[in-house]
Amino acid sequence: MSQIVPLSLPDISDNEIKVVSKVLKSGWLAHGEWNKKFESEFSSFIGVKNSISMNSCTSALEIALKVNDIKGEVVIPSMTWCATANAVINAGAKPIFCDVEPDTRNVSANTILPLINKRTEAIIVVHFGGQTCNMEEIVKLSKKYKLLLIEDSAETLGGTWKKKKAGSFGIGCFSFFPTKNITTGEGGMFTCSDNIIADKARALIGHGITNSTFDRERKKYKPWIREASYAGHNFRMPNPLAALGFLQLKKISKMNKKRNTLANYYNKKLSQFDFIKTPICNKDVYHSYQMYTVEVDKKIRNKFVNFLRSKNILASVHFYPPVHLQPFYKNIKNRVNLSITEELSERLVTMPMYSTLKKNQIDYITDTIKNFKSRN
Ligand SMILES: Cc1ncc(COP(=O)(O)O)c(C=O)c1O
Repeated sequence: MSQIVPLSLPDISDNEIKVVSKVLKSGWLAHGEWNKKFESEFSSFIGVKNSISMNSCTSALEIALKVNDIKGEVVIPSMTWCATANAVINAGAKPIFCDVEPDTRNVSANTILPLINKRTEAIIVVHFGGQTCNMEEIVKLSKKYKLLLIEDSAETLGGTWKKKKAGSFGIGCFSFFPTKNITTGEGGMFTCSDNIIADKARALIGHGITNSTFDRERKKYKPWIREASYAGHNFRMPNPLAALGFLQLKKISKMNKKRNTLANYYNKKLSQFDFIKTPICNKDVYHSYQMYTVEVDKKIRNKFVNFLRSKNILASVHFYPPVHLQPFYKNIKNRVNLSITEELSERLVTMPMYSTLKKNQIDYITDTIKNFKSRN
């Protein structure tokens, strides 16, 4: 097989293209009625009162902090994409890095607790690669210390902790980047159950104006009045992309089921290699496998990834370097040892995973690995 096995691939049907084309021809390209449809469908799927579509998860994270006036310390994992930390900096707050649990690569009450002090105002948990954190403990901790709880759920759409969806425990922030479980190209969603916070977030992403163009145009009386209550942003999602998101969301459960079947198949096929550690899924979690990550010894990790890539299997690494070692962040003094994060960042390998990946492609991957000489 000489074909390329990409790391990820969006699943966009002909019907989705047809509907998006129709929306493009409708003339309403900015934030519009499809945003409302997508948001309402999203709220029922996650089990929250409010969903607000945005141009990215990074914007959703920044808004989650701004809407709550967070300017102090925010505990976040370093085992994440730099967007989590960038959002904290851009909101005018201070990221404080915590470590993760080795098996799930997720933060836990144990890794967050040592960093809480009187300056701490919020926690951002990251549900790594599709696996929801232990939210029971984290919710308890956030309540005990009266901290705002934000879930960076960019990588976990449809995943659960004890049957409750990621993004419904605190303020949820989702990504629809093309590598994610559903896509709108660029895009994100903010979820919350507090109506006042939701109204402020809606205003903040639309220039600080409390009613949208779409709503104003439907008003009979003075639709031209636009009053900015905040110094807002333009973080809105365009109408045609919201239409794509709406249709993608309709098939999320089916796509996540496929990802689970593929993950189980990978687990079975990769168990023949003693140098590969397959992922561990917590028993209280429904995993949405945005990524399928394995671990190998750090001495051979780069060689292994390069070997796969030389065979057109576009494996990758998430995340190297971890955020606290990136040029912008490495001068921040860490308060705790981040040894598990550092170790994982040198051991992890992200294998190709997407809902249209075929079992025979996994066979090709495992047959290819048989030719990898792990000993030298
Ligand atoms: C954990 C995490 N947070 C935030 C983001 C940022 O998402 P977006 O590209 O939609 O801003 C990503 C995307 O890669 C991510 O993986």
